[in-house]
Amino acid sequence: MPILEGRGVTRYFGGLAAVSDVDFQVEQGEVLGLIGPNGAGKTTLFNLISAALSPRSGSITFRGKEITDLKPYQICRMGLARTFQTVKIFGNMSVLDNVLLGAFFGGEGRIASADAAEAAASALEFVGLAEAAAIPARDLTLANQKRLEVARALATRPELLLLDEMMEGLNPTEVNRAMGLVKMIQDKGITVVMIEHVMKAIMSVCGRIMVLHHGAKIAEGTPQEVSTNRTVIEVYFGERADASDS
Ligand SMILES: Nc1ncnc2c1ncn2[C@@H]1O[C@H](COP(=O)(O)OP(=O)(O)O)[C@@H](O)[C@H]1O
Ligand SMILES: [Mg+2]
Repeated sequence: MPILEGRGVTRYFGGLAAVSDVDFQVEQGEVLGLIGPNGAGKTTLFNLISAALSPRSGSITFRGKEITDLKPYQICRMGLARTFQTVKIFGNMSVLDNVLLGAFFGGEGRIASADAAEAAASALEFVGLAEAAAIPARDLTLANQKRLEVARALATRPELLLLDEMMEGLNPTEVNRAMGLVKMIQDKGITVVMIEHVMKAIMSVCGRIMVLHHGAKIAEGTPQEVSTNRTVIEVYFGERADASDS
């Protein structure tokens, strides 16, 4: 059984189908890449999965349970966490306090303060920010603010993590570190769906890739299959892949 499954997921903004009749499956333990040009509907799909938005039609199940009509906090407590394309951290709070919020917020039932503190400290250690624990979050570099969001999401103790362009705006060294972090998350047994434009990262970290275009799924497969798919090449390069002599 897939850990996450969507059927016919559809969302309109006015007359625009931002996500249109999309079926998807995420298998336990995999890293699935979600790619597509700007405006393809990738972030909207994350918003639908995490219930930041409700779909017009379709259904989404997580761990076999229907989550389509749940609230975002209920989905988080079931073990589905996310980060945001534009980081949403609390800049005036310390790095540690940002992560503590995740630790208190996530998981089923209450968590004792000592356990939350331990979960937060270990998440910070995991992403390599332990030494920055006491500084205000706004003083972190962009790359580290993105790591902080990952730590906050991990502190909620997820089984599935949605990463929305964690590598956007990072330099090549930071991208390499971020790729390492995704692999470490997978090694922990956490399933990952990542939206990314950095092709090098997508190709080397993801076992499978799904491609959206104008809200519809146009391709799905291994990195090799997707990178040689004609429809995908047309969408990315705006020309017919076989138009060599016309
Ligand atoms: N809250 C919103 N209100 C109106 N239109 C939106 C909203 N969010 C996204 N859109 C539109 O939906 C489409 C898909 O956007 P988005 O999911 O952000 O794409 P991506 O993440 O693939 O770049 C775009 O045309 C975008 O302008
Ligand atoms: Mg987006």
